Amino acid sequence: MTQAASKHKVGVLGAGLMGHGIAQLLALGGCPVTLFDQDPQMLASAPERIRRNFEVFLKLGMVAPEQVDQTLANITLCDDMAQLCAGREFIIEAVSENLEVKQAVFAVLEELAPADCILASNTSTISIQKIAQDLKTPERVLGTHFWNPPQVVPGVEVIKSPATSDRAFAAMCELLASVGKKPIKVLKDVPGFIGNRMQHALWREAIQLVERGIASAEDVDDVVRYCFGLRMAFLGPLATADLAGLDLTYEIHKDFLAELDCSPEPSPLLAEKYNAGQLGAKSGQGFHAWTPEKLSQLLARRDEVLLRILGVVLPPEGE
Ligand SMILES: NC(=O)c1ccc[n+]([C@@H]2O[C@H](COP(=O)([O-])OP(=O)(O)OC[C@H]3O[C@@H](n4cnc5c(N)ncnc54)[C@H](O)[C@@H]3O)[C@@H](O)[C@H]2O)c1
Repeated sequence: MTQAASKHKVGVLGAGLMGHGIAQLLALGGCPVTLFDQDPQMLASAPERIRRNFEVFLKLGMVAPEQVDQTLANITLCDDMAQLCAGREFIIEAVSENLEVKQAVFAVLEELAPADCILASNTSTISIQKIAQDLKTPERVLGTHFWNPPQVVPGVEVIKSPATSDRAFAAMCELLASVGKKPIKVLKDVPGFIGNRMQHALWREAIQLVERGIASAEDVDDVVRYCFGLRMAFLGPLATADLAGLDLTYEIHKDFLAELDCSPEPSPLLAEKYNAGQLGAKSGQGFHAWTPEKLSQLLARRDEVLLRILGVVLPPEGE
């Protein structure tokens, strides 16, 4: 990988699915990273999980073996929050998606981190304003919504709350760019930001199509994978609308929007599956049937497919 070396000192709070990948990408970009998790096993297993994440990068020749060792050397596992925070310029929180938990950890971060340290939450949908509402320094709090797997997906939504300072917002965008990420500016702190608003509008409609018996779950997924989803990595929906013509888009929306699902509640089909314990891959059954083998094969291929697509869509600098 050819990104410029960054030397910013960053702390990552939470070493779970997202946190260990965020620590990985920052450390690969050159940042000295401190990593803390309240669960000692999660913390201790992070280096091994990062090594495993690197296998696909090594296979594709995107990193050299010495970069893997250097990345791990850049990460310091911490026993406590004080060590996590000491001397940090940025701290990125990736603990459980729960407002009270996040408010409690931000109160500690505000106490322990240097006064000019920027504090970011990786929340998927919670308002940044609410997370910072009881803090004395909400101007240094913002959102950084990484997408799973964060060490692979380049885009990060950077969310400005009404209190976030321009300095904090610009500095976070600069940090992300310096480690090869693509910061995407979310100028208002709305629930779900940009990506999850669009994603869940699509999921609501997809679930309703299955519920109404219009198509199987397999066929609904295939329309995304083999039809419009294929071009989405290259052309966003608004560029696609421009290419189709806004006259056509207007005519379609005039009559067609009333046909779409706009329910404010989870669909009955989703509720039925939820109540029956059909929770998806983790329980063996969701909209699709899952086995542990099928899941591990899919995850093993997912990162390689994404990196190959990215190699075409976002060619390395200089090309
Ligand atoms: N999983 C995803 O696809 C995804 C994508 C984007 C954003 N997010 C968001 O990222 C955040 C983390 O999600 P995840 O999937 O990594 O969760 P996870 O459950 O895998 O990891 C959370 C980690 O936080 C630790 N933790 C919880 N409370 C803590 C505390 N008070 N102090 C220290 N450590 C604590 C847990 O021990 C756990 O290891 C959530 O806000 C989630 O909404 C998740």
